[in-house]
Amino acid sequence: MEKVYTVEDYQKGVQVDRRTEVVPGARQALWSLANLIDPLDWAEVFAREAPVELDLGCGDGSFLLEYAGRHPERNFLGVERLMGRLNKIIRKRQRLGLENVKACRIESAYLLKYLLRSGSLQAIHLYFPDPWPKRRHERHRLVQSDFVGSCLKALRPGGGIYLRSDHALYFEQMCQFFDQEPGFAAVQTPEELRELQTDFEKQWRAQGLEIHYAAYAKKEPPAPQPGLSSGQTGNETHI
Ligand SMILES: C[S@@+](CC[C@H](N)C(=O)[O-])C[C@H]1O[C@@H](n2cnc3c(N)ncnc32)[C@H](O)[C@@H]1O
Repeated sequence: MEKVYTVEDYQKGVQVDRRTEVVPGARQALWSLANLIDPLDWAEVFAREAPVELDLGCGDGSFLLEYAGRHPERNFLGVERLMGRLNKIIRKRQRLGLENVKACRIESAYLLKYLLRSGSLQAIHLYFPDPWPKRRHERHRLVQSDFVGSCLKALRPGGGIYLRSDHALYFEQMCQFFDQEPGFAAVQTPEELRELQTDFEKQWRAQGLEIHYAAYAKKEPPAPQPGLSSGQTGNETHI
């Protein structure tokens, strides 16, 4: 029977090693945060230097593992708050032997805001975030202007965020937030990503639901103009 975790267990989620011994491969798959303050050092998490991609709310991890299998030259962190889903990822990772995948049990917005260094990510995948369809629950949605600011900070220039949803209104709202951020430019979702369906996506497609896609790239900083000292863009007002 699936173990039921208490609130206390949840809060101790940073110390997963002891509890998750039951799932073979847990130690290798899960990244156990030393504390909730120090930003992650990717070279320590993955024991190597490579571009890092996040899958926020990665669910059972089918997309994460399939995509990571196609890109052994990149590192992938799956972020998920539900232990049962993390256990599935641990088992699949073990079966596939994918060392470039880690998973972490943490709240996505907190991780982005407090635990990532500026410019340390190559990509963020956010697929089917909970839509909180009731109007009075909308404030629980992950994508808010604060979240967009955290994504911008965490991504390196040229890095991208990829969005999918079956919920037309939430999707529209997400796009509005990203469109309003001048540091992002709307881009096409790469074909390679489109052809990989997530676990929830397979369910929604089977029910005939329409899937919405969007992608945004972090703009490169403006090139310095000749004759200006470093840090000057030419747009400064001089009094
Ligand atoms: C609708 S499911 C989508 C799962 C997966 N992305 C897919 O497309 O199959 C949303 C997932 O996000 C997780 N989740 C929701 N809010 C979260 C948060 N704030 N931090 C981390 N995980 C979250 C849920 O537990 C769930 O697994």
